[in-house]
Amino acid sequence: MGLVTAAYILKHAEAGGWAVGAFNCNNMEIVQAIIRAAREEQSPVIIQASQGAIKYAGLSYIKALVLEAVRTADVPVALHLDHGTSFEQAVRCIRAGFTSVMIDGSHLSLDENIALTRRVVEVASAAGVSVEAELGRIGGTEDDISVDERDAFFTDPDEARYFVEQTGVDSLAVAIGTAHGLYKGEPKLDFERLKKIKARVPKPLVLHGSSGVPAEAVKEAVSLGIRKVNIDSDIRQAFTSTVREVLAANPHEIDPRKILGPARDAAVEVIREKIRIFGSSGKAREM
Ligand code: G3H
Ligand code: ZN
Repeated sequence: MGLVTAAYILKHAEAGGWAVGAFNCNNMEIVQAIIRAAREEQSPVIIQASQGAIKYAGLSYIKALVLEAVRTADVPVALHLDHGTSFEQAVRCIRAGFTSVMIDGSHLSLDENIALTRRVVEVASAAGVSVEAELGRIGGTEDDISVDERDAFFTDPDEARYFVEQTGVDSLAVAIGTAHGLYKGEPKLDFERLKKIKARVPKPLVLHGSSGVPAEAVKEAVSLGIRKVNIDSDIRQAFTSTVREVLAANPHEIDPRKILGPARDAAVEVIREKIRIFGSSGKAREM
């Protein structure tokens, strides 16, 4: 099975009421872990490359790794640009073979975000590539944020409807209380806001910063319309803590395969667990 678009997977997720995991990759071992977990769970999956991953590995390496992984995969896989920074970068990724791009204009004014997203949608739709955009500010949120701050940073439901109508995006990342990276306390998601957004936006919704969010909260978000769940830090943590454990137990080990192999296995387990939480296990068979 070759690469599919994220929109194709999200259409099935929307119809079935489940969410697809979008897992960040940085190196060969993590690409392999994502594919192995998806195959073992018979789940569709989105492999995504962040700005850091592109800097570290290079666009062509990421593409080559994912294409090789997909060649033998019997589950639908989309290759997605995470938090794209510009129109030019989106075009580079489309040319490189990505089947989905995110354009993150969330730091811009509403009108500027709409204008940038529209340009990307125009070129991506001509190339058969799906587009995710973001409205609201995910990165700046804190656990103990005040109500006024929430209104300033979180996604406004009416604005979300207007944004989607104006841009024609395939999916929308919403700010409802998650934050990127590891949490100090337990994140509190604004489910009332999510319900209002879902009632107004006829497109799949995306949850960023999902590492460390309790399974029950993620399930609730999926039941209320989240269809793509982004996970990076939980994979990094499993991978790196296993590297630490292996080196602590074998301080003289010099074979990278004996260090990175167990880390890859740990990443597979975390990803499989997430897939089960998102409700996409076995869904590849129905697509
Ligand atoms: O775009 C990527 C994600 O939102 C990952 O966030 O590292 O908190 O899982 P996370
Ligand atoms: Zn994100």
